[in-house]
Amino acid sequence: MDISPLQRVRYAYQPKLPAILRENIADVAPILGEKTSSATDQEAIKALFPHTYGLPRVSFSKGKNDKIAQKRNVGVILSGGQAPGGHNVISGLFDALKAANPDNTLYGFKGGPSGILEDSYKIIDSDFLQAYRNTGGFDIIGSGRTKLETAEQFEVCAQVCKKHDINALVIIGGDDSNTNAAVLAEYFLAKDHGIQVIGCPKTIDGDLKNEFIEVSFGFDTATKTYSELIGNIERDANSAKKYWHFIKLMGRSASHIALECALETQPNICLVSEEVEARKQSLVSIVDSIAQAVAKRADNGNNFGVVLIPEGLVEFIPEIKSLIEEINHLLAKEEAAFNALSDTAARISFVASHLSKASQDAFTVLPEEIKAQLLMDRDPHGNVQVSRIETDKLLAAMVEIRLKQMRKDGSYKGKFSWMTHFFGYEGRCAFPTNFDADYCYSLGYNAYMLIAGGLSGYLSSVTNLSASADSWQAGGIPITMMMNMEVRHGEKKPVIKKALVELDGAPFKYFAAHRDTWAVETCFTYPGAVQYFGPEEVCDRTTVTLALEQAK
Ligand code: FBP
Repeated sequence: MDISPLQRVRYAYQPKLPAILRENIADVAPILGEKTSSATDQEAIKALFPHTYGLPRVSFSKGKNDKIAQKRNVGVILSGGQAPGGHNVISGLFDALKAANPDNTLYGFKGGPSGILEDSYKIIDSDFLQAYRNTGGFDIIGSGRTKLETAEQFEVCAQVCKKHDINALVIIGGDDSNTNAAVLAEYFLAKDHGIQVIGCPKTIDGDLKNEFIEVSFGFDTATKTYSELIGNIERDANSAKKYWHFIKLMGRSASHIALECALETQPNICLVSEEVEARKQSLVSIVDSIAQAVAKRADNGNNFGVVLIPEGLVEFIPEIKSLIEEINHLLAKEEAAFNALSDTAARISFVASHLSKASQDAFTVLPEEIKAQLLMDRDPHGNVQVSRIETDKLLAAMVEIRLKQMRKDGSYKGKFSWMTHFFGYEGRCAFPTNFDADYCYSLGYNAYMLIAGGLSGYLSSVTNLSASADSWQAGGIPITMMMNMEVRHGEKKPVIKKALVELDGAPFKYFAAHRDTWAVETCFTYPGAVQYFGPEEVCDRTTVTLALEQAK
């Protein structure tokens, strides 16, 4: 068997487009709206983007599109971490490009943004693409984390595009990649290179969203995949009644993934980093609150439960955040002395002896394994790789210690056995759900419509996503409209604002209203596996987050 039965039948799935994009492609015309401005820092952003600031929003309606059949070559780049549906963005882009003019060519730059710098590409044709339609992964051309951000790199991009007569680039990426796409679009216009740039909103983390982008693609599939696994673990916990499961979930700084999975599965506890930061909760108080919930459940004879932990949590705990900053600084300053120490114990005591009193206190309470993880290899900027810190083990081990103290003072009489899990990579390349398959195909198709409209510096946007696909609205949002100025690596830069969980947003409020009950009672819900064939309310369901955000 070369391919799985599901893979075979998914090739035949025809993704759904918004009603307007189902029209004959020559009968769909762009409509330019009012001029726009950025949400904040208007003057600074306007000065940095003289050619692309203030562009109008774009929608589509029925009308003759005389420019559609013009011959065009387009390059496409996948940027950053994998997210289910990337192959469908390329499929939608390809289908629109070929429907517009069969002589058009799609260049897929290989291995992410470095592919264009190295002029490494694959011409995507119909036969080649067929094996990737409606499948997960980015393996069609590969992805990478090289950033396109310098004028030298932009010039190489221009030369490579000119060599292949490429008129437009589509960059499929997250907030940083799309920020860079906007800078590239501005550069091409300033230099009169005649190359358009369109972005598509990707990331399982769900942190590229705002008034105009309702969700980044991949979030739906990834959270449904994790929620299936969490539900299965909940059912196992409820059957065996002997383990507490601590589950860390990917998502970088934002807790959107953890929150959505909590809404789907109703675990006993779900930590939300943004709330921890707002309440300035210490590690000890977080551990204590989990231990109290464990004790309450034990009083009812329930020595089992499930705790969800967002990947970025440690960065939001005030004393750990300061500790990490001090360690980053110390290791940059004392690199040689630190590297000269051969064993972990010596490195731990070296670091401990150089910390401030407050950070020493925070460091001392951590289990040895976690101390060692904080000193592991740094990222290219010299920072601790927080995603590699086993927060699940940290919390489980500290809760165990706290429960031992509580047992001594008589406030806990239960049994506590724990297990840990980390779900991340399991969800990034899953077969896209019908939602992501449709959404991504629409984003790609729509990206071509923006190109054909002669536009540059736009993010492909498909909205009204909690309705059925025929009511989705297709259009384009100027990227500068989503920007603000932020300090990055010590410099003020224009960037697309990263969306963290809003504590006054409907998803968090719903969670907060129910979590006390979920903590003590067993209210687990079991979402089961993603379904591709069957009733719409099962197969085409969006996330609970989106449904709550868009509830009228
Ligand atoms: P993007 O922001 O590029 O979409 O990546 C998301 C993500 O999956 C994060 O959730 C995770 O922290 C990170 O990528 C892991 O990166 P890597 O694939 O380099 O291990």
